[in-house]
Formats: sequence, C-alpha cells, structure tokens
Amino acid sequence: MNILGISAHYHDSAAALVVDGVPVCAVQEERLSRHKGDSAFPLLAIESCLQHARMDPDELDAVVFYERPMLKFDRVLTCTLRAFPQSWRAFPKAMKNLLGEKVWMRGIVSSHLGVPGRKVLFTEHHQSHAAAAFLTAPTRRAAIMTADAVGEWATLSIGDGERLSNGATKIRRIREIRFPHSLGMLYSTFTAYLGFKVNEDEYKVMGLAAYGKPTRVDDVRRLIRRTPDGAFALDLKYFEFHTTAERSYSSRFVELFGPPRNPYEPIDFNTLEGQRFADCAASVQRVLEDTMVELAQSLHRETGLTDLCLGGGVALNGVANAHLLAESGFDRIFVPPAPGDAGCAIGAALYCDRIHFGNPDRDLPDHPFWGPSVDGSELAQLAREDGHSAAVCEDGALINHVADDLAAGRIVGWMEGALEFGPRALGHRSILAPPHTTEMRDRLNREIKYREPFRPFAPVVPIEAAGRYFDIPPGGARLARFMSGVFPVRREWRSQLRAITHVDGTARLQILEHAMAPRLHKLLEAYGRRTGIPVLLNTSFNLAGEPIVNRAVEGYSTFLRCKIDVLVAGGTRVMKRSSGMERTPVNKMKEEVA
Ligand SMILES: [Fe+2]
Repeated sequence: MNILGISAHYHDSAAALVVDGVPVCAVQEERLSRHKGDSAFPLLAIESCLQHARMDPDELDAVVFYERPMLKFDRVLTCTLRAFPQSWRAFPKAMKNLLGEKVWMRGIVSSHLGVPGRKVLFTEHHQSHAAAAFLTAPTRRAAIMTADAVGEWATLSIGDGERLSNGATKIRRIREIRFPHSLGMLYSTFTAYLGFKVNEDEYKVMGLAAYGKPTRVDDVRRLIRRTPDGAFALDLKYFEFHTTAERSYSSRFVELFGPPRNPYEPIDFNTLEGQRFADCAASVQRVLEDTMVELAQSLHRETGLTDLCLGGGVALNGVANAHLLAESGFDRIFVPPAPGDAGCAIGAALYCDRIHFGNPDRDLPDHPFWGPSVDGSELAQLAREDGHSAAVCEDGALINHVADDLAAGRIVGWMEGALEFGPRALGHRSILAPPHTTEMRDRLNREIKYREPFRPFAPVVPIEAAGRYFDIPPGGARLARFMSGVFPVRREWRSQLRAITHVDGTARLQILEHAMAPRLHKLLEAYGRRTGIPVLLNTSFNLAGEPIVNRAVEGYSTFLRCKIDVLVAGGTRVMKRSSGMERTPVNKMKEEVA
C-alpha cells in the first residue's frame, strides 16, 4: 500500500512516502525550493518522493494531510469571535489564510496530484506528532507526549502507544491541553520578545539561557499557572497572540519584564540590558523544563511504562529533554529526528497505514536519512569546470585525506548519501571542523555561519568514545542519537573541546553508532588516531538564512561563497585553491590550549 503524507501551510512543509508500511522517502520542501522554512504546498517534495519510488500519483492508495483544516478553522473562528473587538484587525488575515487554501485542502490535494477526493484523508495534528514519535521509535510500548505551539485546538497531548504481538497498533490519547493554553506559545512569546523569529529561532532562546540566571522564574510563573487537574493555563492578560497577529505579548507583559529587545542590536552580556534578556531566557527555559518534567512524571505514574516518546516542536529543546530523562521517571526517551511539523508528514502517513487501514506493524530503520542522495560525480564535474582539482578516491583513501585535512586545521563540507529529514545535520550534510579552540568557533561564526557569537556548536562522537569526553547518563546515548539532548562535557576535557563546550559546560552532542553513518564513524576514528581525540564539531551545512544543502551543486555553491576549505561529496574531494596551508594544525592548536 502506497501512502503519501503531507504537512503544509504553517511552516516547514514536507512530504513523506510510506510503501508497505515503511518510509521510503521524506523531504522538507525548503531543501528543494531553497526557500528556508518554506510553508508552501510541497509540490517539489511530493515529486521527489514519487520519483524516488518511480511511482505515479495514481498508484497512491491515500494522500494524508497532517491536520484537520475544518477543526483549525473552527479554532480560529471561535477565538477571533471570542476576542472581538480586539481581534478585528487579525480577523481578515486569518480568514484569508484559512479560506484561501487550508479549508479546501481536499480539493487542493486532489487537483494538484490528480487523485480522487476520496483518497485524500486527514489526521489530527497531534495524532501526526504522536505517530511520528511512537511509530518510528524502536519500542513496542511507550507513553507519548506531544507539545507544540498549536495544532487545530490541542497544544499538548499525552497518551500511550502499543504495537501488539498480532501486528495491530494502538495509539491512545489520554488527555490534551487546548489553545490558547500552550507551552510552545509561551516559549515563542519569549522568542519574539527577545528579538528572534518565532517558529524558527526558539533554539536561540535555549542557547541564550545558558548565559543568564533564572532570576525571573516567579514572574514567568505568573504567566502560566498549574491547574488542579495537573494541566496548566496561561494568564491571557500577558499575551496577545490569541487576539492579534501583530504581537504575541501584551503591554502587561512589557510592564513585567521591561522593554523588548531590538532584534537589530547584538546582545552584550556586559550590560544590564543584555543580562536581563539572558535572565528572561533562562527563566522561561526553567519554567518550560519544570512544567514538562511535572507532566511527564504524572504520565509515568499513570501509565507505569518505562519508555516515553516525545513529539512536537517543544521536543527540539535538548536541555528540557535531558531534564526529562533525569527527572521524569522514564528509563528511555525517544525523540524522532523531525519532531516538528515537517515530521508530521511521516507521522500522518504512518498513522494512516497502521491505524486507519489497520496494516500490520513493521520495524522501521532507525536513522534520519530519508531525503535525496548526493551525487559525487556531479561535484567532480562542477569543480573541474571551475579549474579546482577534484580527486575521486575510494573510501579508505578519502577518509585518510579528510582526517589529514581536519588535523591540519581545515574546515570540511561533508556530503554523503541521503539528506537528513528534520532540522539537524546528523552527518550527511554537515560542516565538520576541529572542536578544540575558541578561535575555531569564532572563525566558523565569522567566516561561515555568520551567526550570533553566543550560540554553541555541536560535537559528534563515536558511541564507543562518548563516555570518555561527555557525562552521559543512562539513556543519554539514545537521546543524543539525533542530537536531542544536551549533556555536560567532562570537566577535564573542556579546555580541549572549547569550540563545542557551551558557556555552562554542556554540549548538544550527537553520539554516532557505526551502522547509522559508517563513513563519518570511520572519519571520527581516523581523526582520533591523528589527534588523540575522536570528536569533531558538526554544524549544519548551510549559510545563515539558507536551508541545509541538498544536492552537490548547492554544497559547491556554499563552498565557493564562504571559507570552507575542503568539500566532500560521496567519493569526491575538492580543495579550495587558496586554502589550507596557512591553517593552524590541530596539534599546534592543542599545545596553545594547554
Ligand atoms: Fe505541530
């Protein structure tokens, strides 16, 4: 049975194709359209999925949209009318958005793909999140918690899932919390207040939090109060997101926390103002963590299960996830590589397969690499046309060359195999660099990523060596499989891992098993043999404001526009003519550190 899942029209559209119960392709529209966070109907992603499977649309048994547009319409209409007259400005915009495309989704899907309307199905938004979290995780029975800004009405849901021995699958929702009471909205309101982009820059608030102290926790708690039934409610006088599209926080919010940050001014932690913003970030982060932990503790007590699957955009918060692992009572926590709305495309398709059609349970491959594959020969051709030398070599030689490059202090653009699905580069579209010095971190920020200096870079380490350099609690390696947890760098190694150690001594690390990305695993070992430390800095292969690269041509164009020294795609290695010899070799860097 061929089922296409689609998420679209909010942010980060995506498509996923499930054939006989197993995903065969999943890709975000932005990676193909090259428009970051593309929320358009994902025609390119759909085409890519169908091409990959050599399938025509009429071979699809179902096309599943990741939420129920009429329920969403109901929510927007109800909230707008409730908030009238304050909401009158937002009303035309909301109606235009919904009436323009979303409500008529069946007709739109049907006409775009040429499939009959009866084949177009819908899942609820949080069902899609729950299915993406539970059905892709290697567990047979787990509690499920999903949290985001909002779907149709739900903003947080708790439940459980079970894959039965007879092949049937059950996903049960126990309770949900409804709009406008939303942890995601609380966090996003601070994201906006702190001058970052909502739905995109929430991780910057998490990075900023490490520079502050949670001195405003009591104030944040005035915004969100726990209710006797164990849920929470926002105090709406501090918010405006439910009445207007213009601003998410109210003047009462500003009275409480002070003037919002001007997004065009850098944050200076040496000023009272800069410290105030960092303290606000630390405080909302703390309240988010505490609330998630309390909800998960009660879910643990209620279900008595040992595994928890987490979904929704809030599950991207690696600091909160690490707290959940430590304090919720669950032994194992699974976060999929794409817990946000893009991942709902896979979730919707799998939910439809297992629950709607009742197809038998299947074990799924446990990796994030569901996108198009990179073609090394395309890179070789592009580079040679430009007069760069492009060496094509077999695996062993290539890995030795690249390990030499990294040990010589060079920065490497690394592309191999299928593109990651989800926001994180997990070793197939990564920029790799020596992780030892602050100079390297600053160089990456200044010459390649052009981003705020307070944001940390992530490391990748082979699973065999992770415990030597990082303080990994039981269950931590699973969370770090897709970079979903933040854990301490061991104190004795911090001075040698300065480029990836955050100001609070932690790192959002990826722990790599050989089977998931064998070439990167070999590269880490080869780098370790040269430098004594098999850890690399791993940041997504893109420039600021651009989506992660997909094809060789995008990697090559990025390589030309910034100071990456070496580019690898498949078996092809290209070195910039001007690059490399002047770099500081790693062993020299480490002497300086020592
Ligand atoms: Fe969502």
